[in-house]
Amino acid sequence: MAKLGLNVDHVATVRQARGGVEPDPVTAAAMGELAGAEGITIHLREDRRHIQDRDLEILRRTVKTKLNLEMAATQEMVRIALRTKPEQVTLVPEKRQELTTEGGLDVILNLKSITDAVKRLRDNGIVVSLFVDPDQEQIKAASKSGADYIEIHTGAFAAAPDWQTQKRELDEIDAAIKLATKVGMGVNAGHGINYVNIKPLAAIGGIEEYNIGHSIMARAILVGMDRAVKDMVELIKYA
Ligand code: PXP
Repeated sequence: MAKLGLNVDHVATVRQARGGVEPDPVTAAAMGELAGAEGITIHLREDRRHIQDRDLEILRRTVKTKLNLEMAATQEMVRIALRTKPEQVTLVPEKRQELTTEGGLDVILNLKSITDAVKRLRDNGIVVSLFVDPDQEQIKAASKSGADYIEIHTGAFAAAPDWQTQKRELDEIDAAIKLATKVGMGVNAGHGINYVNIKPLAAIGGIEEYNIGHSIMARAILVGMDRAVKDMVELIKYA
């Protein structure tokens, strides 16, 4: 059955807005797990705009399900991952000016450096996932890199202005899942998934883990973390 990987970056964003100590993403992660999240996802960005090294260190020791570290394939980040050993690393592209991750990795263009990073991580027992657009050529390159999973970038699907566009994007995602499965890779998905668009997405099947942050934290502010996580887990499990 598909799983929720709860992204707690946005809790850290609120904390950093005041440069203080609350709210703590570590507390949010623990509450999320108690409510049914089966993974905790954090993105340690080069500029440390939300998640801090301290969060990674503590979460490494406290997460009871699975810690998924999103990071750029840089020397610094690979070193940090090899030291802290999250269960999974998701390699993502990173631009300093972006508000959030804006597109999938260009695995074709960066095949050599990505393959090197994948090897170093996998040699140390870390499962590796590549965040890619639902693009057949990128998925073929992801397979060549030796990564275990792709995480399909669902941003274009989530931003579709009408149902015809959404259906087209969903077809691309479906084709991406089929190709990844055929080449022996597991499939995760993330970016812009909310309580409405999860329904058609989950209905196509084949996605193991949904990494969701913004919509859940937005709801948690209003109704509480427990309810926000439980509502999403229910939609994922019973779609
Ligand atoms: N997956 C990846 C690779 C991401 O970069 C993000 C955004 O941090 C997410 C999932 C979660 O996206 P959202 O916050 O829109 O749910």
